[in-house]
Amino acid sequence: MATGSGQEGFVDVAAAADVYDDEPYGVKVNGQRVVLCKVDGQLYAVGGLCSHQYAELDEGELRGCVLMCPLHNSGFDVRTGQAIQLPATQPIPTYAVRVENGRVLVSLHPVTPG
Ligand code: FES
Repeated sequence: MATGSGQEGFVDVAAAADVYDDEPYGVKVNGQRVVLCKVDGQLYAVGGLCSHQYAELDEGELRGCVLMCPLHNSGFDVRTGQAIQLPATQPIPTYAVRVENGRVLVSLHPVTPG
């Protein structure tokens, strides 16, 4: 199994030009839902499922660095994955992101587990 650490274990998920500031962009990484979030031109990738109940976070709103769950309005800091607004109390995973040749690459495995 790939470790997903360092420079290895990244997967191409999207064209960088398709990801817009403040618009969550859902992708699949290693079979898992992941959301790309662009904040002030900086890309972040977090797990795509809420840690409270079942909700898909790419359907939520991105307010600054905070990704809002569409079901009960929990908020997650996309830089850290931390839940910063109830009812969720547990973090969501974060993934490493890089852009190469206009493509967005995301680590196969989370860098923080959520
Ligand atoms: S399912 Fe996300 S806040 Fe409840």
